Amino acid sequence: MVNIPPYRGSTMLFDTVASLKDASGHRAYGRWGTPTNRALERALAELEGGANSMLTPSGLSAITIALLASVKPGDHILVTDSVYPPTRGFCETVLKQLGVTTTYYDPLVGAGIAELMQPNTVAVYTESPGSGTFEVQDIPAICEVAHGRGARVLMDNTWATSLGFNPLKHGVDVSIHSLTKYVVGHSDALLGVIIARDRDVYRQIRGLHGAMGITVSPDDAYLGLRGLRTLATRLRQHQEGALEVAAWLREQPQVREVLYPALPGAPGHELWKRDFTGASGLFGVILHPVSEGAVAAMLDGMRWFGMGYSWGGFESLAIPVNPADYRLGSPLKKGEACLRIHIGLEHPKDLIADLQAGLQRLQAHRG
Ligand SMILES: Cc1ncc(COP(=O)(O)O)c(C=O)c1O
Repeated sequence: MVNIPPYRGSTMLFDTVASLKDASGHRAYGRWGTPTNRALERALAELEGGANSMLTPSGLSAITIALLASVKPGDHILVTDSVYPPTRGFCETVLKQLGVTTTYYDPLVGAGIAELMQPNTVAVYTESPGSGTFEVQDIPAICEVAHGRGARVLMDNTWATSLGFNPLKHGVDVSIHSLTKYVVGHSDALLGVIIARDRDVYRQIRGLHGAMGITVSPDDAYLGLRGLRTLATRLRQHQEGALEVAAWLREQPQVREVLYPALPGAPGHELWKRDFTGASGLFGVILHPVSEGAVAAMLDGMRWFGMGYSWGGFESLAIPVNPADYRLGSPLKKGEACLRIHIGLEHPKDLIADLQAGLQRLQAHRG
C-alpha cells in the first residue's frame, strides 16, 4: 500500500530473553509510539531539519511539555505578550507553583530583549505571528541575544506551519506545533508535536515526555500523515483566499485595520517577507468602535463562516476576540472590537458576500 497503516497495539512480542532485554523505546512497548507515530515524527523533523521530534496528544500539551522540560525551580522565563492564552495560563499556574517566574515581553521587542534577560533567564518563548493580534517577531534577533546568554528559544509555529516558516533555520531550539490546525487540516483530530534542533535538547524533552506517559493514538498519527500529503496544496488555497478577503475587508468603512502579515502594507509585512515562505488563512480584523450587540448581529447571521474556537481546517470561521482581556499591551483602542477570521477552502467570492451581508447587519444595528 502507498500509505503506512495505523498500527494499533500496546504489546510487542520477543523471541528471546536477550532480544526482550535489548528492546527500547518504540521497539519495546506501544506507549512509546508505533511505526505510524514514528513515520509522522520523522517526517515532521525532516521538514524543519530537526534532529528528531515527538508527538503529543494536543498542541497545548506540546507547549506545556516543552516548557516544563526547559525549567527548574528558581528559573525565570520570557514569554511574548502575544502568546496563545492557555500558554499564559500554564505559566501563571503550574510554572508559578514550581517556583518559575515569567515576564511577558512586547512581541516587537527584537534585540531589545537583552534588557529583559535576568541572570536566571533560561528560556525565551516566542509565537509568530502572535495569537489574536498577529505581530511578527524578529526571531533571529531574539535567538542571537538569548543564545549569547545561554538561554533556549522555543517557538509556537502553528500559524505558518513548517512550510511557511522554518524556526530551526532562524535559530530556534524547539519548534512547537498544534497539528490539530493545518497538518490534520480537517477538524477531526487533536495532535501536537515538539521538534528539537539538536539531539541533546531532544533527549532532555523526550525524557519528560516518556516519564509522564504521554502517548498518541496511531489513528490520530495516521490522520496527521494523511494531512501532510495535501498540506502544501491546501495552504496555498488558504493563503490565496485569505489575501483576497483581507484586501477586500481593508477597504470597508467599518474596518480600521486588517492584521494579516502576508498582506502588503499590513503590520509586520516587511518582517514576514524577510523570514517567511508562506502564510496561512488566519488573520485579525480591528473594527472601529462598535457595540457587542452589533458584532453579534453580524456574526450570528453568517452563512459560510461558522463560530468555533479552532482554525486550520477546511472550513471558514469568525469569532470575536478581545486581547485587552488578558494582554499587558493591546493594539485595540477604546471601544474597538476585534474579529479573528479563518479563511477555509470555500470560494473567496462566497466568503466576501457573506462578510458584506454581515457588515450590513452590523451597520443596521449601529443605526
Ligand atoms: C497558536 C496556537 N497554539 C497552540 C494551540 C493549541 O492547540 P491544540 O488545540 O491542539 O491543543 C492553539 C489552539 O487554538 C493555537 O491557536
